Amino acid sequence: MTKSKPITALIHHPYVPPAGFSAPQAGVFKASTVIFRDVAAMRARDWKSKHGYTYGLHGTPTTFMLEERIAALEGGEQCILVPSGLAAIANVAMSLLKSGDEVLIPHNAYGPNKALAEGELQQWGITHQLYDPMNPADLEARITAHTRLVWLEAPGSVTMEFPDLPRLARICRDRGVTSALDSTWAGGIAFNGFEAGADIVVHALTKYPSGGGDVLMGAIVTRDEELHLPLKLTHMRMGFGIGANDAEAVLRSLPSLPVRYHAHDIAARELAAWWQTRPEISQLLHPAFEGSPGHEHWRALCGGDGGGGLAAGLFSVLFRERYRTEQVDRFCDALQLFKLGYSWGGPMSLIVPYDMSLLRHPSIWPDNGMLVRFSVGLEDVADLKADLEQALRAMN
Ligand SMILES: Cc1ncc(COP(=O)(O)O)c(C=O)c1O
Repeated sequence: MTKSKPITALIHHPYVPPAGFSAPQAGVFKASTVIFRDVAAMRARDWKSKHGYTYGLHGTPTTFMLEERIAALEGGEQCILVPSGLAAIANVAMSLLKSGDEVLIPHNAYGPNKALAEGELQQWGITHQLYDPMNPADLEARITAHTRLVWLEAPGSVTMEFPDLPRLARICRDRGVTSALDSTWAGGIAFNGFEAGADIVVHALTKYPSGGGDVLMGAIVTRDEELHLPLKLTHMRMGFGIGANDAEAVLRSLPSLPVRYHAHDIAARELAAWWQTRPEISQLLHPAFEGSPGHEHWRALCGGDGGGGLAAGLFSVLFRERYRTEQVDRFCDALQLFKLGYSWGGPMSLIVPYDMSLLRHPSIWPDNGMLVRFSVGLEDVADLKADLEQALRAMN
């Protein structure tokens, strides 16, 4: 071959660094195209296998490495990574449900899960019902011959009710229905979703595994190759791959996950205990506190007996009805360290105010009033407490 021009040499440079490089942090392999050795290798490709590479969407060393670690974190065998926690929920629904099927969703599930059921799933002829996760008999009664999938979540989003998860999962198993648990709150730390009985564990890695508030990613974990395969096929057909830089960011954060989870937990409990002494609120919603709905189920599942148990850094408070929306808004606006923003699991403390008359049907939540959800970050707790105190003064 004639000598290449510099630009060609830059693209086809022959240097290959020596194999066997080893360092604490994983490398970042970026690719849409994966190059095959020869035509036979291209024809023999198996995109489902982790023994080789086919196309960037189906995996690179970086994404395979993260998949294996998330599977280990959740105590599963297979893991599929998708571009957000919501995409993980959608991937499960699209894979398991077809026209004529029904999905059951707890009424306190992550809101966009319900929105997906009301939107695309309904358009595709898939029906849904909301069930009361705190009443296993309600779930049992709603399962029909058309029920193909039951969502579980512990605790519920925003209102933090902790269900009897093993019992709900057992009902699904006894009735031959696949259960999928949104286990984002547990973070792979507070309890094991498979041991609680779920068939599929979904985790929004956007939260604690990322830990930085700067990555969107989700995972679908299974322990059963037969269940994994249809999920993987949907993932392939929808093109739900993730980027290598995001995978690397999560790989970098994972070793500190247990330490961070614990720190968020301790800080949140200290602030929640402080809120309990405040006259402005009628209820604290944190599953590790007595009086919070489902506290006994949290204790049974998250090791609360004897020890302190484990919980995420999330809780909500319900303001007394005499506090109107404008006053609670004033409290939220007066906060300096707690920022107004969705999501959780990062270093910065966040709040979201909710009008309960808009968030839950009155048959489920009869009290009107304002609720504020706190995601406690990693700031100094005394500073956070002082921030809450000054904001309450501004409100009162
Ligand atoms: C319980 C729960 N599941 C799933 C998600 C979705 O995660 P993502 O923001 O990555 O789509 C969230 C996000 O807030 C969540 O709180």
